[in-house]
Amino acid sequence: VVVIGICSIFIKMGSYQPYLQSLKELLHVTDAQLTTVSDRMLQDMTYGLQLSRKSKTQMEMLPSFVDSLPDGSERGAFIGLDLGGTNLRVLLLTLSDPVDNGSKPVADIKSESFKVTKDLLEGTSAQLFDFIAEKMASFAHKNGLVGKKLPVGFTFSFPFDQDRINHAILKAWTKAYHIKDGVGDDVVQMLHDAIARQGDLNCEVVAVCNDTVGTLVSGVAEDQNCQIGLIVGTGTNAAYLEKVSNIESVESQGADRWMCVDMEWEYFADTGCLDQFLTEFDKQVDASSPMPGQFIFEKMISGMYMGEIVRSILCKLAKVDNLFAGNISETLATTDAFLSRYVSDITEEAIAEHGKTEVVTKILSSVGVTPSSEDVVIVQLVCEFVSTRAAHLCAAGVSAIARKIKANHPDENDLVITAGVDGSVYAGHPTFDTMLEDKTAQLCSAHGVKVQFIHAKDGSGKGAALIAA
Ligand code: GLC
Repeated sequence: VVVIGICSIFIKMGSYQPYLQSLKELLHVTDAQLTTVSDRMLQDMTYGLQLSRKSKTQMEMLPSFVDSLPDGSERGAFIGLDLGGTNLRVLLLTLSDPVDNGSKPVADIKSESFKVTKDLLEGTSAQLFDFIAEKMASFAHKNGLVGKKLPVGFTFSFPFDQDRINHAILKAWTKAYHIKDGVGDDVVQMLHDAIARQGDLNCEVVAVCNDTVGTLVSGVAEDQNCQIGLIVGTGTNAAYLEKVSNIESVESQGADRWMCVDMEWEYFADTGCLDQFLTEFDKQVDASSPMPGQFIFEKMISGMYMGEIVRSILCKLAKVDNLFAGNISETLATTDAFLSRYVSDITEEAIAEHGKTEVVTKILSSVGVTPSSEDVVIVQLVCEFVSTRAAHLCAAGVSAIARKIKANHPDENDLVITAGVDGSVYAGHPTFDTMLEDKTAQLCSAHGVKVQFIHAKDGSGKGAALIAA
């Protein structure tokens, strides 16, 4: 059914207007170009690990001070906090002895999620941290944890500088957070202050990590071979295991030490290195974003922008190619009105059952347009072009990491490593995972390394609790 669905879309494509064909070409990044992206990222990773990095790359390559990984011997109860792009998740992880001679501890997770409202995204850091402490307290009350002193691992999905595991100086608010203060402050201190203001909590934040690092660590709990943590959600970024002797800012004590490095790859293309791939739509999305000129790589991949790229293409097609009979509704003309979730849902329907158009029609009518049957296919194709490009660029990044890890293991032929992945795009888009996997395999094939992907579902909060453990 999937094959017939996709083929028939392409057969129809033949009869479509030339603009759509040129759009397809515009959004297609060739394998040779992806290899160039991979080469460039590999080079920037090396630059980013050097003390003289500043002028050479925008990628941060931040040492996380997570230098030991779960080995299955951890026991006890730990709190994980996960502040992401749209939600706060509070969880209690309890690790007890394995059953039936197994090697893995039995992990019990209780969790609750809370939406981070627009007010909080645009308020002060104290308001945000008070919200976190308040939700922790209500979680503690519900789960009978009041008065118990539990260690907390905090996943904070932003860039920060660390010199130890429980100290993190915020470098920037990213994604949709426009908080006026907090940059330059210690994230752990801000959380401890809010916990103190809250009053009835008795917990200590023993570790703070980026969500990619949390995802890597929770991936290790599933598969000891996991060396990459990847997030493709509201934002996108990756972490991997690097040799400490390669990280110039960290004192190396012995050749065999390893540490998770948070790449902050959302900054990768801010040097202009991907400018040749930017379409007029990317430029438009960038210009109307709160931080123009920044996070160019992320803007081509992540969920915060995928729907917006599709929306700006649809508006252009309506103008030049009579899509929706040339009508652009007020909603469709509004920035961010086309959610990335729609791209996933439309693709899901397109591949699931050929000819079914209920979902796409409903989505388009929710943004105020009535599509013809031809319009429906065009919208499906636009979603496909945009998400394929995102998955392929992401694969170029993952292949660079795999090559870097391979360079650290020169003696291992045919190295196989695992990547733990999570995020709303990876988990919610029906073909993103396969496109990412296939393209990564292809880009890695000449380099003696293979990447296996596992879905580290809700891994970043669990990873933080495991780091605390
Ligand atoms: C943004 C943040 C980064 C995070 C990523 C995924 O790019 O800056 O720290 O890892 O989103 O959530």
